Amino acid sequence: MAGPVPGFERKHGELWCDDVALSAVADGAGTPVHVYSRRLLRDRCAALIAAFADYPPDLHYAIKANATLAVVREMREAGAHADANSGGEIEVALRAGFRPDEIVFTGVGKTHDELVRAVTLGLKAINAESPGEVERIDAIAAAHGMRARVAVRVNPDVDAGSHPNISTGHKTTKFGMTVAQAYAMVTEMARREHLHVVGLHVHIGSQITRPAPLTQAAATIAKMAATLADQGIQLEHLDIGGGLGIAYEPGQEVLTAEEYAAAVLPVIRPTGLRLVLEPGRWITGPAGVLLSRVVDLKQQADGRWFVIVDAGMTDLIRPALYQAWHEIEVVTPRDGAALECDIVGPVCETSDTLGKQRSLPPVQVGDLVAVRDTGAYGAVMASNYNRRPAAAEVMVDGAQWRVIRRRQTIDDMLQWEA
Ligand code: LLP
Repeated sequence: MAGPVPGFERKHGELWCDDVALSAVADGAGTPVHVYSRRLLRDRCAALIAAFADYPPDLHYAIKANATLAVVREMREAGAHADANSGGEIEVALRAGFRPDEIVFTGVGKTHDELVRAVTLGLKAINAESPGEVERIDAIAAAHGMRARVAVRVNPDVDAGSHPNISTGHKTTKFGMTVAQAYAMVTEMARREHLHVVGLHVHIGSQITRPAPLTQAAATIAKMAATLADQGIQLEHLDIGGGLGIAYEPGQEVLTAEEYAAAVLPVIRPTGLRLVLEPGRWITGPAGVLLSRVVDLKQQADGRWFVIVDAGMTDLIRPALYQAWHEIEVVTPRDGAALECDIVGPVCETSDTLGKQRSLPPVQVGDLVAVRDTGAYGAVMASNYNRRPAAAEVMVDGAQWRVIRRRQTIDDMLQWEA
């Protein structure tokens, strides 16, 4: 990695992002605001590519993790290609400057219009999720006199070991085709004039922290590719999806990028095929924080406190949806006894909690808190519930910062309505 990565650190007790005090961003851009470190974004992308240096991969950044245009552009400049999960993400990838042959397109339930767009653009691969989808892609390609590049998404029936809501590789989930179905499909596709079967794809889930499921999933498609090669069907690439987890809690054990490479390369290397990766969270997650201001303090029946802040589940739904843990820090801590508290948002839902059972330095109304590791699946999962406008997003670049997505206004929200 190129040089030290400061990221989010304390200077004179105050939390900074690289060379900018977070308090300065909050004063300038208002709260709640998502703040990203350009340097961390780039360095993490480069670090993941470097971990695979002895078998250089095509790293397709999973746009779903953070789809803000300026962030996606950074990924391209850092050497990534793109993984899109919808027609909207394909358009974002194109506007960020990716060429169609740098984009793979995944997703259950691709619509006719999305498939027409994908086929006619000539994307690097459409990862087909079902036999019916393959038929639809074939028909569209034939109608346009084209040959669509298609990979088959395999459901390897592997337990990723992460939260059930974000595990996708078990046979009971809606994702991909069984190994038997996929073999039959690829053999059939190889005979079709308008289909070019380019690869196999797996993605077994997200926030994976153990190597075994990742190895198992990669081994499943590596073995299939070898069997298909024996039958004269030569693929171009194996796409092992994303899923590499990050440490949300201090001391949480996760895989390093190098351990991830070591878990999958031994099974991929013998195939000699190009390796496609689709990481999202590992790159952007730790590169962002959600900054929020305390708006009220209220004591609970058991003596602990509610710290009520101006960000809520509409800005970061992960704690409410997956009981996810995010570290929460006071930006400019005061001296005094620790405050035992739950940090909650203003939304009219009991699940609108950012952190439960926390111990913070004493805070007052107006103080700033930073919710860590919100660069992935933070702003992208925002909603306007309670007519709350989407938060602003800011990119810090060294000692400079700029708004990369301005705060939504009530007029923005209402402009679609009759
Ligand atoms: N490729 C495919 C086909 C995917 O479905 C996903 C994520 C990725 C790649 C990127 O996975 P990552 O490297 O980021 O784990 N909202 C949830 C996570 C949902 C992940 C969906 N798919 C959360 O906040 O934990």
